[in-house]
Amino acid sequence: MFDLHSHIIPSIDDGAKDMEMSLAMLEMAVESGTKGMVATPHVIEGEWLPTWDRILFDCDRLQKKAQNAGMEIPIFPGGEVALHFDILEKLKAPGPYCINGGRYLLVELPASHIPSFTDEFFFTLQARGITPVLAHPERHPELAKRPEILVAWIRKGILTQINGTSIIGHMGERVMAMAELLLINDMVHALGSDAHRLRNRNPNLTSAVAKITELIGLEKTQDIILKNPNHIIHSREVSISEIGEIQYPKKIKGVLGWLGRLWG
Ligand SMILES: [Fe+2]
Repeated sequence: MFDLHSHIIPSIDDGAKDMEMSLAMLEMAVESGTKGMVATPHVIEGEWLPTWDRILFDCDRLQKKAQNAGMEIPIFPGGEVALHFDILEKLKAPGPYCINGGRYLLVELPASHIPSFTDEFFFTLQARGITPVLAHPERHPELAKRPEILVAWIRKGILTQINGTSIIGHMGERVMAMAELLLINDMVHALGSDAHRLRNRNPNLTSAVAKITELIGLEKTQDIILKNPNHIIHSREVSISEIGEIQYPKKIKGVLGWLGRLWG
């Protein structure tokens, strides 16, 4: 499997605090079956704004250290770009901050709301040849209340990445239910660990993959953990499934049951 979202680069954001921790996280990833990792340090206006050259340099340094430690896992550069109008200045074309310097960009919404310029932000990127991949939409309270917003984005070509921790319940019941809803409605295109350290938010995706397989079967799971991320890493087209009327996870009775669960 591929891990499309990780904070594996040392001392660049709130992820791995030093090289020792980065290498231990990589070792955990390799041992749990991950075949490639995308390093996606935070890129946030006014908070963490590493240059693309620094990300490339640090990624290369980590790759060499991993090889010296006997690990063959490839580490691809990227960024987790927080939605902000000013960042568009740095995203004029495919390349900088995009996954493996290609045409896909991991984008994060603000935690509690959806800014009014979000559609414009996404479509500006698309007009420049950059395809947004929305990071962990299952964690967003507004999208949980109105999943149709996400349906509309996906129909316009935006992809999604869910976190392993969400699907196994480490982020709470509501986030887990939303992850399930997205999975059973074919609204997930890739999996990431969003690993920040060795405990809790770590790079071991084994339990998440088992749970996803249980929910949607082996073939669709393979698309999410292997086929689509491989296409994304290599800037190839990802096929997006048609989304019908929203189905709710088992034990939840329709839209009222769903909303009751969110606010209950
Ligand atoms: Fe992240």
